[in-house]
Amino acid sequence: MTANAATSLVGRRALVTGASRGIGRAVAVALASEGASVVGLARSADALAELSEEHGVTAAVADLNDDVDTWAVLDRAVEAGGVPDIVVNAAGVFGVRPCATETVRSFDEHLRINVRGPFLVVRSLLPAMLERGSGVVVNVGSVAGRRAFAGNGSYSASKFALRGLHEVLLEEIRGSGVRASLVEPAATDTGLWDPLNPDADPNLPDRADMLDPQDVADAVLFVVTRPPGVAIPLLQVERG
Ligand SMILES: NC(=O)c1ccc[n+]([C@@H]2O[C@H](COP(=O)([O-])OP(=O)(O)OC[C@H]3O[C@@H](n4cnc5c(N)ncnc54)[C@H](OP(=O)(O)O)[C@@H]3O)[C@@H](O)[C@H]2O)c1
Repeated sequence: MTANAATSLVGRRALVTGASRGIGRAVAVALASEGASVVGLARSADALAELSEEHGVTAAVADLNDDVDTWAVLDRAVEAGGVPDIVVNAAGVFGVRPCATETVRSFDEHLRINVRGPFLVVRSLLPAMLERGSGVVVNVGSVAGRRAFAGNGSYSASKFALRGLHEVLLEEIRGSGVRASLVEPAATDTGLWDPLNPDADPNLPDRADMLDPQDVADAVLFVVTRPPGVAIPLLQVERG
């Protein structure tokens, strides 16, 4: 028996949120280097301009807190380049604070960016993907979307909710030709950890023990290059 060949990404259109840094940036670069035409969404115009210059990723500057602006930016991206074949929801926020001291504002922000953000993107792009009958949506979840870690109340609430949204989506797109994958990385060495200085905190993983963003990008690349008819609804990525 021979292995099925991976689907080529040459000429495929991709939209990646959180493309300015960390995992989203690694995913955008990986997709672009495989020949996809990539639009990267984030707030940081300078970082996106650099990504555009170095890797040919088209910048889509938008704040996921702003529905109207995000929707308009996504509409413009579709008008300019067509409905994406690949949508990667990688934008996210992360804070560590016990429920006893966590602020309502921070809790709301986690839900707004980590679960309402992916919903907004899916709500905007999925109808046309369904109409076309093809495409892959990748939601970047987290190990904290199924496991409790002290201090992760806001983050876990958002990532468990994202998993719920993802699982409903799987039921709704079954048989449509559109596929969806929840990629759940363990701790990954990105700037997301900088404010927490994990190496100085015995309760947090050392950076040396974390995944590299490229490991997660490789996982995303794997799920989006499966041949039509093969779905990877869940992919957990951890150090082993
Ligand atoms: N690092 C980890 O240990 C880890 C582990 C498991 C899962 N994850 C998940 O992986 C994803 C990426 O994390 P990361 O480590 O790469 O984080 P990161 O380096 O902090 O990057 C976060 C990205 O999200 C974007 N973003 C944040 N708020 C936004 C907003 N309001 N509007 C638009 N974009 C926004 C940021 O762009 P701008 O600031 O430019 O807007 C940035 O591109 C997140 O969903 C995270 O929960 C991370």
